[in-house]
Amino acid sequence: MSEKAPQNTAELIINGTSYLLPIIEGEQGDKAIDIRGLLRQTGFTVFDTGFKNSASCSSTITYMDGSKGILRYRGYAIEDLAERCLFIEVAYLLLHNKLPNREELESFRTMLEQFALMHEDMIHFFDNFPPNASPMSILSVMVNSLHNYYPEMSDDPLVNIDITASRLISKVRTIASFSYKKSIGQPLVYPRYDLSYCGNFLNMMFDNPVRPYIVLPEVVAALNKLLILHADHEQNCSTSAVRLVGSAGGNLYASISAGINALWGPLHGGANEAVIQMLEAIHADNNDYKKYIAKAKDKSDPFRLSGFGHRVYRTYDPRGKIIKDACRGILAALNVDDPLLEIAGKLEEIVLCDDYFVSRNLYPNIDFYSGIIYRALGIPTNMFTVMFALGRLPGWIAQWKEMREDQSTKIYRPRQIYTGAPPRHFIPLGERS
Ligand code: SDX
Repeated sequence: MSEKAPQNTAELIINGTSYLLPIIEGEQGDKAIDIRGLLRQTGFTVFDTGFKNSASCSSTITYMDGSKGILRYRGYAIEDLAERCLFIEVAYLLLHNKLPNREELESFRTMLEQFALMHEDMIHFFDNFPPNASPMSILSVMVNSLHNYYPEMSDDPLVNIDITASRLISKVRTIASFSYKKSIGQPLVYPRYDLSYCGNFLNMMFDNPVRPYIVLPEVVAALNKLLILHADHEQNCSTSAVRLVGSAGGNLYASISAGINALWGPLHGGANEAVIQMLEAIHADNNDYKKYIAKAKDKSDPFRLSGFGHRVYRTYDPRGKIIKDACRGILAALNVDDPLLEIAGKLEEIVLCDDYFVSRNLYPNIDFYSGIIYRALGIPTNMFTVMFALGRLPGWIAQWKEMREDQSTKIYRPRQIYTGAPPRHFIPLGERS
């Protein structure tokens, strides 16, 4: 055995040989063993399915403490941001690492409204999607296609990143609302310069020629809060997809489109839609909570309680707590009485008394109550994950920008453990049995 490893070093002993690996410590005390030299030193890789034990990068954007339920964007507590900011303020914070002053906020707002229109040729795309096309598939196609109409990314992407970021953050509202209007056969409603970021989106979604939409301050406030709560979440699945595509030199539109497709999955952003479907099924089943909880615990049944559990949080998701607390007030202000809210509350109560879930640290996450507010705002269920993408977009862009600015970035290319066939001699076609 060698002498004790020096401070801030991990000692790895393989077949009697000692290897010293540096320990990295983050600003908030998060620690990692730096294995960037492991393969070269030892000939070994590490095996970590789902990257449960791996840090893919260092980042200055978002900090999470999974055991304490802490979430901060650029050092600011999510509770403060959700309560006291506009979504575009938080988008600016994520992109520029500072809360904007009045002047910066106004110029950002002007830039967003300047980019709200979509190229008229792109509107014809909507004529060719089938009526039941998934809004997430439309969103990823349209975002990817933006590159063809706005090629400013083709030269140095970081030179034009602010323009592209504003263009994307602004246009996704138009794409989302146009896809909704097309799906219900209503005329498109164009963005207006006199409305706020959230007010514009709501108006494009719900205004129509025969019944003008009234943009209620309570609805705008609720949407601002929801988008802020979704704005970033360190290296989650979809953010990792954005970084991975960007690490190969992919342009921002292509990288964001990859993030949209990763978010679509029901284990990730698609969970908010799955939660409503689960609550509606329980409601239709005479509120038979026990049946669904038993299904979730049954290893032979792929069913899981959507909206519960998290890779990082070992306690209540702080965002879920904020949304749950806001639910009642928003529904009351909008005079909405949704039976699913009671069902969600009862399900949470039963789950948090059940040792199967508590022993596995399965608490409500951001997706458990968010759909109940989206319903109250009039957002259709199949658009819930699109709403998640609208919120997450500034975070994806900030993470992509950080990855591209980081000189130590390497193309994402994990290794594997091969478990396939041993070497085999080739058999010509005519000799095969
Ligand atoms: C988001 O990463 C992020 O930050 C994501 C996100 C963001 O903002 O970007 O926070 C957004 O995606 C939130 C999560 C939304 N997904 C869901 O609500 C789907 C339901 N939840 C799960 O499928 C699950 O909890 C995950 C996917 C969220 C996390 O899965 P992990 O970390 O891979 O955990 P695991 O599958 O290894 O589960 C550990 C144990 C297993 O049981 P055992 O093998 O120990 O017996 O817990 C069980 C699982 O079977 N389990 C569940 C469960 N989640 C985990 N059992 C029933 N219901 C569940 N929801």
